[in-house]
Amino acid sequence: MRKMIVAGNWKMNKNLQEGIQLVKDILEVSADLKADKQVVICPPFIHLASASELVVAKDNLYTGAQNCHMEASGAYTGETSAEMVKSTGATHVIIGHSERREYFNESNEMLAAKTNAALSNGLNVIFCCGEPLEIRDAGTQNNYVEEQIKAGLFHLNLEQLNNIVIAYEPIWAIGTGRTASSEQAQDMHAHIRSLIKNHYGDDAAENITILYGGSCKPSNADELFSCPDVDGGLIGGASLNAADFHGIIAAMLAQ
Ligand code: 13P
Repeated sequence: MRKMIVAGNWKMNKNLQEGIQLVKDILEVSADLKADKQVVICPPFIHLASASELVVAKDNLYTGAQNCHMEASGAYTGETSAEMVKSTGATHVIIGHSERREYFNESNEMLAAKTNAALSNGLNVIFCCGEPLEIRDAGTQNNYVEEQIKAGLFHLNLEQLNNIVIAYEPIWAIGTGRTASSEQAQDMHAHIRSLIKNHYGDDAAENITILYGGSCKPSNADELFSCPDVDGGLIGGASLNAADFHGIIAAMLAQ
């Protein structure tokens, strides 16, 4: 069964008190979610235990980390393992966000290893891909995203793929106010689904959730989410405000 998901990526925003308040505000406004229409809140690591405790009683509302380390433990100052993430009650982790690829030099190899660490600790992975503006302008975005998907995911078996959500986030649309048109989003999502189909077969392609990310907001969520291959969104800025996030959740529930 293909799920729709709205996930909020808070990035490096909100101190602990502000974060707890935002989770409470989201809980207050969050409408009836369903097994096939879920919400995931991804705050910074410091909020994860408190946020997980707040959402634990709410069906189909989950928490996730924005990153994890690929090693199980050891002398990696400042890092957080997948097992530590899991121990907070979080169920998801974002891997391969473009900001991590760019600012923290996360290579495809590292991202494949992080994906393995997350899966082996029972976490669901929201695996990000997406092209920079120069690639979009050159018209080679399909090949670019194909390489990211192959390098990050294609070593997984079919069973492991069940715990993967793909997020397509064109870098030129992140935090810029510039959104991919619904045609651009649909075209890329259909391309990603065809890659999954060629490698894993029809059922896997039909079942995998593919999210759109990049300046998604209440005013454009409905149009984006109504594309046949867009199964929800990974939301940055608009996830920091409960009313906006609720508007996006409402767009998912209306599909
Ligand atoms: P914005 O919604 O702020 O453009 O961010 C998108 C994103 O990077 C989510 O991971």
